[in-house]
Amino acid sequence: MAKGIMYIDGQRVPFDGEKNVLAVIRKAGIDMPTFCYYSELSVYGACRMCVVEDEKGKIDASCSMEPRDGMVIRTNTARLLKHRRMILELMLSSHCRDCTTCEKSGNCRLQDLALRFGVRHVRFQDTRPVYEKDHSSPAIVRDPNKCILCGDCVRVCEEMQGMSILNFAHRGSDLVVCPAFDRKLSETNCISCGQCAAACPTGAITIRDEIGKAWRELYDPKKRVVFQIAPAVRVAVGEAFGLEPGVNAIDKLVSALKMMGADEVYDTNFGADLTVMEESEEFLERLKKGGPFPMFTSCCPAWVKYVEEERPHFLKNISTCKSPMEMFAAVLKDQYAKKDAEDGRTTYHIAIMPCTAKKMEAKRPEFRHDGKPDVDLVLTTQEIITMIKESGIRFAELEGESPEMPFGMGTGAAVIFGTTGGVAEAVARRVVEDKSRNTLQAIQFSGIRGSETIRAVTLPVGDRALRIAVVHGLVNAQKLLDDIEAGREYFDLVEVMTCKTGCVGGAGQPYGLNPIKRQRAEGLYEADRTALIKRSERNPMVQRLLEGPIKGRTHELLHVHYQHPDKA
Ligand code: SF4
Ligand code: SF4
Ligand code: SF4
Ligand code: FES
Repeated sequence: MAKGIMYIDGQRVPFDGEKNVLAVIRKAGIDMPTFCYYSELSVYGACRMCVVEDEKGKIDASCSMEPRDGMVIRTNTARLLKHRRMILELMLSSHCRDCTTCEKSGNCRLQDLALRFGVRHVRFQDTRPVYEKDHSSPAIVRDPNKCILCGDCVRVCEEMQGMSILNFAHRGSDLVVCPAFDRKLSETNCISCGQCAAACPTGAITIRDEIGKAWRELYDPKKRVVFQIAPAVRVAVGEAFGLEPGVNAIDKLVSALKMMGADEVYDTNFGADLTVMEESEEFLERLKKGGPFPMFTSCCPAWVKYVEEERPHFLKNISTCKSPMEMFAAVLKDQYAKKDAEDGRTTYHIAIMPCTAKKMEAKRPEFRHDGKPDVDLVLTTQEIITMIKESGIRFAELEGESPEMPFGMGTGAAVIFGTTGGVAEAVARRVVEDKSRNTLQAIQFSGIRGSETIRAVTLPVGDRALRIAVVHGLVNAQKLLDDIEAGREYFDLVEVMTCKTGCVGGAGQPYGLNPIKRQRAEGLYEADRTALIKRSERNPMVQRLLEGPIKGRTHELLHVHYQHPDKA
């Protein structure tokens, strides 16, 4: 790793292991503009916005230069300014400029930089063809007319998720980013993880916007609008209103939803506790019967979709438990049928999720009953932020309100579902026989927590030493599957989260890089630390439900059998 001193705009800046000059510039506190640099991916070096000039007048892209001791550069000369304005003008010339009505307006890097560099008019003719938008995905929308060809989505899809759904096609002025053979996303194996939309600096890939539907239902007096809020949402929603990442804002979110017209607001943690109970039961049953192992977690719909499409022989290994969102919805639907019949209102169920793939999950046929989905609508954290802003609510100043009972109660084991390792840790708390505080801590420090992409731990349960793996980022899960298939690794239980860092890093969350995602994870661990009840089996509301109204019907309500679409 290189070490030394650089001189940036006359400032002496030491560097020590930074991977490129751009990182050193940012360390010096200079906000260098970029389009195609994403610190968690390989360097592409195509947009040329990050150019710098050396003492000989040579201009080069800082993201593609290694720092050298004694290097002298300037980041902001008249030539560089002209160069950046020219790039922006060229980009805008071949770009749809419906800024005011664009999904990304106010949150678009092209718009921001055009404003920052004072681009007021575009001198070049737009010669690009008009492309059709792709609305076929349940989770994201592609609008190639807004693409600046930075390639971020291509690298995210390939390097983080191992899916390679998007790629460059054609040449010269016809160059576009699209799925192979220009197919629609619904005709590909896209898993709806949405990470391409999270990376896209413009409105060329956006999350499917369903805010209009939510408002219509909230304004309909014949509807009882009931919300559930996922664990990871609470530690990210405040970021849009000046709160630090990781601050648990669930109580403020409940108040905001009530002001916006919600009838009842519950916590997905209740569904997560149910999941722990059912998944642990299933796991113990598999231990008795001798498999199939490993048992894979089933909470992440993008992961389930991947297995269905690309590794269907592993479907038998996926837990039959529905995700917490769908367990919650099934119970709600069951319990509210009588209420609806009595007061003549129809319950409309909205789930607030950190996840775009949940939009896809809610539309799956397995989760429809009597022609209606169990979850009527999934809104992402970003969509709910937009709605709060539209309502003019001063979120940071709100007095908090707790989620309602009985479905507002969740344990510490449930809240950590929102970060990588959380589901495995919650299940481990349930299946270990020794329930002492020391055991709880031993699980916590076993290596189950952390940010390494694949973590393996061994925990004693009865006379067995259980092998548990935790993996995040689908490309890493694919590597683990290869090792399991080849017999190089053996595990009893594997937790898979498609998004890096787990749901705190879901594509529906406000944009943030790894340090922010880690702060959110810390917020969830803090919520667990301060929770009065730490184990799912001690949630009294869950116990009451399992022993009362749904006794004998848990299989029907809480489990699902995924089948490969061709064999269904
Ligand atoms: S949603 Fe995920 S799988 Fe689909 S194209 Fe985007 S990154 Fe790739
Ligand atoms: S779709 Fe977005 S992320 Fe992908 S190349 Fe175009 S502008 Fe970049
Ligand atoms: S890891 Fe979480 S946010 Fe990401 S796709 Fe899976 S469930 Fe959704
Ligand atoms: S950010 Fe360096 S070339 Fe695009």
